[in-house]
Amino acid sequence: MSDNVNPYKQAHTREKAARLKAEQLLEDKSRKLFQQKIKLEESYIKLRQQESAMLQNEQLATLGTLSAGIAHEINNPLAFVLSNMESLNNYTKSFQKLLLLTQELIQTEGIKETEKSLLTDLIEQEDLAFINEDVDELLKDTSDGLHRVRKIINNLRSFSPTQNTDKVETNLLKGLKSTLKLLDSELKGSVDLQLSLLPLPNTLCNPNELNQVFLNLILNAKQATEDTKEATIKISSHYQNDTIFIRIQDNGCGMTDEVKKQIFIPFFTTKPMDKGTGMGMAIAYGIIANHQGKIIIESIEGSGATFEIQLPVIQTKL
Ligand SMILES: Nc1ncnc2c1ncn2[C@@H]1O[C@H](COP(=O)(O)OP(=O)(O)O)[C@@H](O)[C@H]1O
Ligand SMILES: [Mg+2]
Repeated sequence: MSDNVNPYKQAHTREKAARLKAEQLLEDKSRKLFQQKIKLEESYIKLRQQESAMLQNEQLATLGTLSAGIAHEINNPLAFVLSNMESLNNYTKSFQKLLLLTQELIQTEGIKETEKSLLTDLIEQEDLAFINEDVDELLKDTSDGLHRVRKIINNLRSFSPTQNTDKVETNLLKGLKSTLKLLDSELKGSVDLQLSLLPLPNTLCNPNELNQVFLNLILNAKQATEDTKEATIKISSHYQNDTIFIRIQDNGCGMTDEVKKQIFIPFFTTKPMDKGTGMGMAIAYGIIANHQGKIIIESIEGSGATFEIQLPVIQTKL
């Protein structure tokens, strides 16, 4: 009997072929399933990111409204406290004149001893000589403090995404260049500034506000590169699909995901008291939101950061 006709062998070959085919099929299916699983996981992550971005936008909008409300409430009493301080300053000057005259009078011959000792005692008991010295400093410190409060309040107001602002048609490159000029002495010598600015179309916007955004982002980039060797800031612009892109990239300290999550929250800062107010990014967020734009952040801790402003081009209707 030849091998070809051996029924056992034939059955075995058939069974082996069928098994191989089944295994192949199983492998193909598993691979497909695995690819689908990866796709599903990717979609899930994307969805979660979109969900958290939406949540963050909502939270920031609420925070903006809240901040604007608080700022408005504080602004009114602050205005009269500031004005009262001015009156108080003037009144104090009058009293100081009176004290000076009294002190001079005590020294003269023409005053009765009883009156002299009455006045001298009063000056001593009330410590008027010291008060006279201290009051100017007290008033100045108070006034400085109040002006700082006013600055914070103004910052908070510009963080509000609901604030209405006057918009004009302008070219953002003009603003960007004038902001860079303003920062010239700040950047010169310490940072290698690399510009690659492609032309942009005119758009309807508030140029002063957008300059403020550029300023805040460039200053942050500068501060982030303070401990970097060969500190570099790259600024680029381009235009695509009716959207303006302005990118500010630094090779500074970068940030953790934890910092990235909180960056737009008012008063959030990782800098020491005298350096950071934590309002730069919050203000930038409010302004860009007012222009229907976005700020996209990419950063790895220790490897620098990139901030991309995306703004839709809005043209005035003719
Ligand atoms: N270019 C950057 N590189 C690294 N971290 C940054 C950068 N820009 C902003 N940050 C982080 O975001 C925080 C908030 O920034 P900002 O609102 O401008 O406040 P401030 O600069 O006063 O701290 C900073 O303290 C810093 O931690
Ligand atoms: Mg800042």
